[in-house]
Amino acid sequence: MSEHVEIVIEGKTYQLPVVVGTEGEKAIDISNLRKMTGYITLDPGFVNTGSCKSAITFMDGERGILRYRGIPIEELAEHSSFREVVYLLIRGVLPTYKQVNRFSVLLNDHSLVHEDMRTFFESFPRASHPMGILSSMATTLRSFYPYLDTEEEIDITVTRLISKIRTLAAMSYKISRGHRVVYPRHDLSYCANFLNMMFDSPVRPYQIDEDVVRALNVFLILHADHEQNCSTCAVRVVGSARVNLYATISAGIAALWGPLHGGANQAVIEMLAHVTDKKATVKQLVERAKDKNDPFRLAGFGHRVYKTYDPRAKIMKKVCDNVLEKLRLHDPLLDAAKELEDIALKDDYFISHHLYPNVDFYSGIVLRAIGIPTNMFTVMFAIGRLPGWIAQWRESIEDPAWKISRPRQIYIGPTKTTYTPFEERE
Ligand code: SDX
Repeated sequence: MSEHVEIVIEGKTYQLPVVVGTEGEKAIDISNLRKMTGYITLDPGFVNTGSCKSAITFMDGERGILRYRGIPIEELAEHSSFREVVYLLIRGVLPTYKQVNRFSVLLNDHSLVHEDMRTFFESFPRASHPMGILSSMATTLRSFYPYLDTEEEIDITVTRLISKIRTLAAMSYKISRGHRVVYPRHDLSYCANFLNMMFDSPVRPYQIDEDVVRALNVFLILHADHEQNCSTCAVRVVGSARVNLYATISAGIAALWGPLHGGANQAVIEMLAHVTDKKATVKQLVERAKDKNDPFRLAGFGHRVYKTYDPRAKIMKKVCDNVLEKLRLHDPLLDAAKELEDIALKDDYFISHHLYPNVDFYSGIVLRAIGIPTNMFTVMFAIGRLPGWIAQWRESIEDPAWKISRPRQIYIGPTKTTYTPFEERE
């Protein structure tokens, strides 16, 4: 393969280096383009633009491949735990038994939040969206914990965030319902601890169900990283200004909140509920989604990278069936989801547009089975994606090519005009 490409601009030929990744992906390195030619490139939404080189996650959208540090998502979902995947993403290797046990001790040591933070929770209007609370609380952690750029301090901050995000999420849920806050316990695993903090109560102690714990582990594993998605891009851009990690993660949470991104899991449930509440039929939803004059889109369908079935959606669909069967639950939304998928996948519009279910299409049904309220679905996505954001942030600040993110633009506004005094304005 040629190590460069040639472009001809205004009769002059320029050579640009080619970068090839370990999986054969190719890129034209344009880092010196403007200096060489005076031209920049333009690519709204960065559809064709790589922002970085990364060794964390590999996706192949045409073949439906997803691997964390080279390990296929199917194997991690089958054999691993979220705690182990956190370690894998951030440290780059699967932990030994000793390392993962040490990590668990650290997560327990940092699982509480400062009692004064409760006043912040209690000051939010009861109907506040949990993602707005979580994003605010992530930044607020900086007011309670020191932040230094040293390796040791960064390690502690990373552990604090991974552990405390559960406590913050459960606290916002309990306080929003006027219930007593449940504290983390050192005798419970990462996911069991979160479920207990969410659902334990003085009148009805929460019964830990290992099938539910397993389903939550798989849910979080499937959400843990996804290369340069919108919220990870936000984390890299905000982090490039060298702001503290708490505020950087808060930016990722805010980006994930969007209904086109992590907010889609909540939007899927609201869409399916339209069907089960007999406000719309599946066929009507499909027709609306195809209508160019209608802004409605099928939530949970389509993806910027996957042009085939999202491998996470396949696994999530199995988790759906398993957890509903184990809990002897029947959710009419699942029937509506399967009917919608069946119709859409046979429809020429969806086939020609390469639109398939993405991770959000079935994930909400798993969360409902676990008992998570709908407005916390994207919070669950954020808990899962936190290790990915951290791993990507860490890789960016350790990258020798690192610099503050500052894209250029093509200006299309008015050319030079003069200031006019009030009396001369119409
Ligand atoms: C996540 O990037 C990631 O990796 C994200 C994520 C992660 O793990 O971080 O995977 C998580 O965000 C999953 C996506 C969740 N969002 C949704 O489910 C919302 C519904 N989906 C769409 O809004 C859309 O598919 C996006 C936002 C996901 C992707 O949009 P793109 O890549 O910018 O594609 P596009 O909007 O340019 O659409 C291309 C065409 C258009 O039709 P044409 O104008 O070319 O004729 O496909 C159509 C769109 O109208 N289209 C849809 C559709 N999604 C795209 N039509 C109907 N329903 C849909 N859902």
